[in-house]
Amino acid sequence: MSGRIHNEGFRSKVMSAADAAAIVENGWNIGFSGFTGSGYPKAFPVALAERITAAHEAGEEFKVGVWTGASTAPELDGALAKTGGVANRLPYQSDPDMRTAINKGISNYTDIHLSHTGMQVSQGFLGKLHLAVVEVTAITEDGELVPSSSVGMNRTYLDHAEKVILEVNEWQSEGLYGMHDIYYPIGALPPNRVPLPILAAGDRIGQNTLKVDPEKVVAVIETNDHDRNTPFKPLDDDSLAIAGYFLDFLGNEVKQGRLPENLLPLQSGVGNIANAVLAGLLEGPFENLTSYTEVIQDGMVDLLDSGKLTVASATAFSLSPDAAKRMNEKAADYAKKIILRPQDVSNHPEPIRRMGVIACNGMIEADIYGNVNSTHIMGSRMQNGIGGSGDFTRNGFFSAFVTPSTAKGGAISAIVPMVSHVDHTEHDVDVIITEQGLADLRGLAPRQRAEAIIENCAHPDYREPLREYVKLAATKANGLHTPHDLATSLSWHLRFLETGTMKA
Ligand code: COA
Repeated sequence: MSGRIHNEGFRSKVMSAADAAAIVENGWNIGFSGFTGSGYPKAFPVALAERITAAHEAGEEFKVGVWTGASTAPELDGALAKTGGVANRLPYQSDPDMRTAINKGISNYTDIHLSHTGMQVSQGFLGKLHLAVVEVTAITEDGELVPSSSVGMNRTYLDHAEKVILEVNEWQSEGLYGMHDIYYPIGALPPNRVPLPILAAGDRIGQNTLKVDPEKVVAVIETNDHDRNTPFKPLDDDSLAIAGYFLDFLGNEVKQGRLPENLLPLQSGVGNIANAVLAGLLEGPFENLTSYTEVIQDGMVDLLDSGKLTVASATAFSLSPDAAKRMNEKAADYAKKIILRPQDVSNHPEPIRRMGVIACNGMIEADIYGNVNSTHIMGSRMQNGIGGSGDFTRNGFFSAFVTPSTAKGGAISAIVPMVSHVDHTEHDVDVIITEQGLADLRGLAPRQRAEAIIENCAHPDYREPLREYVKLAATKANGLHTPHDLATSLSWHLRFLETGTMKA
């Protein structure tokens, strides 16, 4: 045994992943730990996938619900999706096999704001939670759980599941002890809710460990395996240009007296461009920065190392293999500056609005009026999900969305007459940035927004066609508030589906 299980009762429940998977019954909903490729169970999902496949080969019906914190890794989302045995998936994923299962209609996907997931589980909207499978770093003598590299939904799943399986992963650093801040009162439902007492990103309000009712624990599995994150792409010209525009914008906000010199707590979304913005901050003039965000990426760790960032609050890591190794070696040092919280605290509207978080997220497309699509390709195909982007966008001090101005080698414009799906409405979107420039939409009416977005953000190849659409819409709508020509507003998407390009 690894020596990480310090409680005799839990030691007596150690078994193989295959034996633990045999406990699962057809139709169960399972709440897994795991968030952006960190802290997910490594052995149980693979064993469960084998069990599901064996059942299918024997002609038996076997499907389970897969609930997580957010995206996981091939060993969880990939392995289970490949069986065709995932009945429902929530609240966020980014796995190619799971995406295929969702888009083929094999798995029902409920794409939920990450701050809402906990309360929807507690309210019982999502049905019964039969099992929680949670990776931990260690089990203490008194039976409490030291979380691993993500917290996500673990508190809620451990509290609400009928049965619990724990994976104790020796790879996770023991230095993580003390990094987590698990706040229990957040689980209360109305009318028993209390204020969330976070006034600054670094405030600690909970305890270091997760609690579990030992009576519910039916198996403990020992593992020694690393989190499987993908490396970030090297910074390219587009992401550097986008980062540059954003940093200039922030600098100007400071000059105008609208932001303090050390800015306000930063939130940075998933993906390469968000990471590039963080890399830009490393070279930039701002000092004593703080972060109240969802994931800690490589760029955030570099900022902590440089001393430019003093504290980072999140729910999980999203680190490249190199950065994950660095984190593992020096976790005890980082625990002084990093706080990992449950996702219903990291993404909670109350501290995000109170502290005035600066939100910056990736998007798929925006329309000329500032509506943003973060989730769907050509209206119907799910990419990943809304994740936490809505939590920070709606409630932050201001919200920025970033993307290259074109996709698929220029065949797609990221600025379109009308988005093919809306995740963030024009009311929530303050700033749009592409490698072409930045549109500050605050205080603008729809027709002014259209001009700002087209002239600053659209790719030159698409600027004239967008101007022509605006002229046509103005004629058709005859001066109405938000002019659209409904007959052609989605014609660019249709053209792409029919011809492979949005260009006429
Ligand atoms: N139309 C059609 N396809 C598009 C497109 C568009 N306007 N823009 C991008 N794509 C395609 C890309 O070509 C790529 O396709 P591929 O997988 O076949 O290569 C795919 O969409 C992903 O694009 P990419 O540029 O690699 O995306 P990214 O890593 O910058 O992520 C989002 C962009 C929007 C998918 C990502 O930010 C996301 O999932 N956001 C929602 C969740 C979120 O914001 N979470 C953060 C909260 S903390």
